[in-house]
Amino acid sequence: MEEEELIDFAEIDAMRREADRHLQELAGARLPEWSEHSALAGHMTPCPFLGTEIPWGELFYPCCGDDIGHALQVFGPYVSRCRFADVFKPAGHRPKFRSHTSGKGLPHIGTVICGEEASKDLEGYPLPVTSHRKDGLLTFLQDLGPLAVFYYRGDSAGEGGSDQRWLMPVLLDVILSRLLEGGLICTDGANGDDLLVHSPRGTVLDYRGRKLTCIATDLPGGDGRGPLKIWRLTGA
Ligand SMILES: C[S@@+](CC[C@H](N)C(=O)[O-])C[C@H]1O[C@@H](n2cnc3c(N)ncnc32)[C@H](O)[C@@H]1O
Repeated sequence: MEEEELIDFAEIDAMRREADRHLQELAGARLPEWSEHSALAGHMTPCPFLGTEIPWGELFYPCCGDDIGHALQVFGPYVSRCRFADVFKPAGHRPKFRSHTSGKGLPHIGTVICGEEASKDLEGYPLPVTSHRKDGLLTFLQDLGPLAVFYYRGDSAGEGGSDQRWLMPVLLDVILSRLLEGGLICTDGANGDDLLVHSPRGTVLDYRGRKLTCIATDLPGGDGRGPLKIWRLTGA
């Protein structure tokens, strides 16, 4: 199924600039610019359960808590590294009370928390696995290698959630500007808007001249969790 969606990229660019200004002021970090073409991976890897190839690169899961098992099990064999980030409850680190850390709400991004920075390689896995005690967005901007899979679920803007708006226009644009050609977004739609959450399998969005295709809507979430959708980014 082909579906044309009207996305106002001029408005996204304006929101991006505003978000970028605030982020720079708060954390000295910048959002990446949109680039005309996706970066190419050194090579592609067959991913048989999806019936497609994915670029050789890292999986990143921000605001993950201790929910690292499913991502590792499903994508671990096909990525160069799994990288997880959580400020309060990062896998393999001691948890920290929320009241000891304060965040700041930034326009179009949500809450960003500065001042926490520790990372650890977790042992006992057949691939490199890194767990960051760090803000999800700052990890994305400062620590990430080439991005093959962006994995995100179970989060919210409510109590206990991060309020980072990963699937809303500005951060989605930021993810797509770093995703390798053929890379995936795997999500239950947490914190997302209608476009990514409700589109059926086969939907193709024209995203700034690239194609964002919904290739699955029913990846079992494991651990009693809901199904996950998978979007794949390719050239036009
Ligand atoms: C609702 S929980 C979801 C955890 C996980 N995604 C799941 O589905 O089980 C939200 C998580 O985001 C973490 N968090 C809150 N603010 C964050 C931030 N700015 N950066 C990274 N993680 C954050 C919390 O510690 C918490 O573990």
